Amino acid sequence: MDLDAIRAAARLLEAGQLVGIPTETVYGLAADAGNPDAVAAIFDAKGRPSNHPVIVHVARDADLSRWAAGVPVEAEKLIAAFWPGPLTLILKRALQVPDAVTGGQDSVGLRCPAHPVAQALLQEFNHGQGGLAAPSANRFGRVSPTTAQHVIDEFGAPGEGPLAAVLDGGQCEVGIESTIIDLTRLDTLGPVLLRPGHIGAGQIEKTLGSALALPDQAAPRVSGSLDAHYAPRTPVALLAGPQMQHVVDSLRAKGKRVVTMRCAVDADAYAHALYSNLRALDSEGADLILVELPPQHAAWQGVNDRLRRAAFDSAGVLDSLLA
Ligand code: TXA
Ligand code: MG
Repeated sequence: MDLDAIRAAARLLEAGQLVGIPTETVYGLAADAGNPDAVAAIFDAKGRPSNHPVIVHVARDADLSRWAAGVPVEAEKLIAAFWPGPLTLILKRALQVPDAVTGGQDSVGLRCPAHPVAQALLQEFNHGQGGLAAPSANRFGRVSPTTAQHVIDEFGAPGEGPLAAVLDGGQCEVGIESTIIDLTRLDTLGPVLLRPGHIGAGQIEKTLGSALALPDQAAPRVSGSLDAHYAPRTPVALLAGPQMQHVVDSLRAKGKRVVTMRCAVDADAYAHALYSNLRALDSEGADLILVELPPQHAAWQGVNDRLRRAAFDSAGVLDSLLA
């Protein structure tokens, strides 16, 4: 770990600058969550609508009362089981949390990342008492970054674009964004799964001893739940394995350029490489990225969620290429 770079990044963040940071899920575009101007700069850089809330990242053992109005026992259980780690909890906000962070809602998303560089940075930033607002470090609607180079590909090198620095923590281990659980409506709905991820719904339910509800119409805005999200520029189509070769042959016979992503046996390994693979395939300038549909069982829920969104805007493209 480059401690000098981490210290320098903490000072830049304290001064209101933006820094690209590694986490175990994806890279984040971080700013001081207590500084509304710094948080506004995240939205500018991403091109993200300003009413979308951002997650606040905190150090291990941070005092959550700075951010949350209360920590229900359900949150305590999940924190004990899964923090630091790829789990975001939505709690009722404390009054002093800037509206820029919450998108003007009455809740706040909190996450304690496990990546050692992120933890070291959070310990260094504001003496371990601060929070870092950090959405994924990609332009709005695009594929999340899982390497420092991806972050630079999105925003330019430090000093040449909106970023003052990018901390390099290697390739993200998990590869897809954190699981998000909403604990703000325990009385009416119970705990709600807002975004599936590496920590599975089953593990959460086992820890809580109760079932998770699915997001409903009343759910707070989650930009990751917009249907067209995580999308490469090249259209994406999902297809069952046995159909793949025939469709590839038909497309090539028509002079179409198609690249393929085959399924793997292990969901975690697939998630780890998913966004890197999508970025690499996207850069080939093909007419279509054809993705083999993974199994539809629980271990693949996070991956299937991201693939479905990546393909959402491309409905009908495969048919028109084959026509
Ligand atoms: O793994 C992750 O969570 C990564 C890394 C960088 O930590 N971050 C991430 O941030 O995925 P972002 O902004 O791309 O996605 C966070 C999601 C968004 O869909 C946002 O709307 C939702 O969390 N969110 C944040 N605060 C919320 C709140 N108060 N209520 C409901 N949803 C919230
Ligand atoms: Mg994102």
